[in-house]
Amino acid sequence: MSGIILTGDRPTGKLHVGHFVGSLRQRVALQNSNKFDEIFIMIADAQALTDNADNPGKVRENIIEVALDYLSVGIDPSVSNIFIQSQIPQLTELTFYYMNLVTVSRLQRNPTVKAEIQMRNFETSIPVGFFTYPISQAADITAFKATAVPVGEDQEPMIEQTREIVRKFNSVYGEVLVEPEIVLPDNKACLRLPGTDGKAKMSKSLGNCIYLSDTEADVKTKVMNMFTDPDHLKVTDPGKVDGNPVFTYLDAFCKDEYFAQYCPDYACLDEMKAHYKRGGLGDVKVKKFLLAVLNEELAPIRARRAEYESRLSDVYDILKTGTAVAEKKAAETLAEVKSAMKIDYFENDVILRAYKEKNGR
Ligand code: TRP
Repeated sequence: MSGIILTGDRPTGKLHVGHFVGSLRQRVALQNSNKFDEIFIMIADAQALTDNADNPGKVRENIIEVALDYLSVGIDPSVSNIFIQSQIPQLTELTFYYMNLVTVSRLQRNPTVKAEIQMRNFETSIPVGFFTYPISQAADITAFKATAVPVGEDQEPMIEQTREIVRKFNSVYGEVLVEPEIVLPDNKACLRLPGTDGKAKMSKSLGNCIYLSDTEADVKTKVMNMFTDPDHLKVTDPGKVDGNPVFTYLDAFCKDEYFAQYCPDYACLDEMKAHYKRGGLGDVKVKKFLLAVLNEELAPIRARRAEYESRLSDVYDILKTGTAVAEKKAAETLAEVKSAMKIDYFENDVILRAYKEKNGR
């Protein structure tokens, strides 16, 4: 298999373990599979501005934060290009042409946009830029001719809308763009990791996130305070594992070998779950095990982060180089797009030749 990866995140905050199991871990695995010819990982600052227009400082500050998150999970800058969206003007130009291929009602039906409009109470005051961000996301993906887009499940409607734009463009102007596929994690627990409070989603404003950059002490406090089964009052009570975030996190992170190391009473998670359901297994014991598992998973991430934090000028260079490589690729695609649309007027006197031909001169 050969292919091209494009993916990214909005820099509106630090990335958390939900991002990690939902997509970052998958991106690193794809990168290390050596099956892809080119990999582009984008810090989507322009998209972040679509609903943070009055707060560019927040977006700016989080660019380096997200770059550090990427590098710390194992995105390898010698293989993957990390770049900053707003520095690639070709993406904006593509967006402008794609806007003619999408209807307002189609945008209104995009479930992710719908949910976000509700969440932000935008109903009567939706910024136009925000409303059209799925089109700009299609430009991000197609500019790189991406075949694979590893993202969280919430991005599925964006990829579907991108595929529609690709089909429309290719049918009107000729085969130039490539239809991408979404790449989701196989493990169901990873699709949407709940917050530590048991709420459906981790979100900064709810204060229910475990960040990749959290210290061991932070993680300990958060795990020991995690929501569990509210009816599991005494150790001997039977407990519920479905909808119990401690077990959802274990589903997402646990490997059998961790039991031998940290909780040898059980051989695997199913045995531990069975005991919890029967009664006789206390929350503290399960939480301590989860804490050990999380620390095992986060330790190498923390170490790489510390390493990159000690050489921030290298991080700056990584972003600069990645952005230059990305711009070159986007410029190539934009040139093809304009030529297919026959608006590349100054290429080989196209505009004059077309006029002369029509008027027989
Ligand atoms: N929408 C993504 C997010 O919310 C960020 C993003 C922008 C993106 N453009 C993209 C993701 C293109 C994948 C492909 O974080």
